[in-house]
Amino acid sequence: MTLVAGLGNLELFSFLMGLSGPIFWVVQTFVGSPYGRHASASFGPPLPVKLAWSLQELPSLLVPLYVVTCTPAKHFSHWPNRILLAMFVFHYLQRALIFPFLIRGGKPVPLFIFLSAFLFCTFNGFLQSQYLSNYAEYSDNWIKDPRFIIGCAIWLMGMLINVYSDNILRNLRKPGETGYKIPRGGLFEYVTAANFSGEVIEWYGYALACWSLEGIAFALFTTFNLCVRAKYHHRWYLEKFEEYPKLRENYNSVFILSTSSAIFSSTFTIKGLK
Ligand SMILES: NC(=O)c1ccc[n+]([C@@H]2O[C@H](COP(=O)([O-])OP(=O)(O)OC[C@H]3O[C@@H](n4cnc5c(N)ncnc54)[C@H](OP(=O)(O)O)[C@@H]3O)[C@@H](O)[C@H]2O)c1
Repeated sequence: MTLVAGLGNLELFSFLMGLSGPIFWVVQTFVGSPYGRHASASFGPPLPVKLAWSLQELPSLLVPLYVVTCTPAKHFSHWPNRILLAMFVFHYLQRALIFPFLIRGGKPVPLFIFLSAFLFCTFNGFLQSQYLSNYAEYSDNWIKDPRFIIGCAIWLMGMLINVYSDNILRNLRKPGETGYKIPRGGLFEYVTAANFSGEVIEWYGYALACWSLEGIAFALFTTFNLCVRAKYHHRWYLEKFEEYPKLRENYNSVFILSTSSAIFSSTFTIKGLK
């Protein structure tokens, strides 16, 4: 346990996660983002959507619970550490225990996608909770630091956009329907995948509040992962609906903004300006 969980290894894992974002981006540009409307039989047998979403996201709740209760968690008595891990866990309480059971007419999840998401949630749940429970050393004043306050505010805004946008998508279908309509309202007036934009914003807020390599690696990975999926969605809408608003491809600006803020934050994190 100590061997895999040392701070040096957590930093190495963070670099690997951050680096795997662009690699995934390139791979997905060729193989697609094969679930939901883009699902493909070559990615394994289909699993029931609600069960798959709930189980694949659950490690992001259970692993932090394990780390906090079954390891020394020597920094978890400090408020900044508690609040930051609570932000992470709160997101996944929604994602694993609420979101799946509200899905309306969602497509089954291919086994390979389920397994990839499950492994990612296990790995990332460990990375974030191990760092925040056993290694992150914040002064008690950290909760008054502008990085923490602004980061928390951005995190909250991102989560509200994400949940609100997922709700808009859900309500496009009446119970029993499985087809697609053009989403309207909220950030959907400007971008194709407002739910993804919210998620990306959320994790940059978390990264800023954590001021850690672990946080920024997760935000970077999410950016690359969701931008490629948003691109596929955009192309799909243009093919499917003649009247689809072309301007919604502005998600590109979210990508550029996020990436530059990522580079900015990582530079300072690496310099150790905590
Ligand atoms: N952190 C990460 O790396 C990460 C990765 C993936 C997902 N997520 C999050 O997980 C959530 C779901 O992701 P997702 O990829 O499944 O999102 P999605 O492709 O936008 O689909 C979300 C749900 O809405 C339905 N839907 C989407 N567009 C619709 C339309 N135009 N008309 C009617 N129904 C529509 C989908 O049904 P169908 O299944 O029938 O398409 C699905 O049930 C999002 O909040 C996302 O941010 C996070």
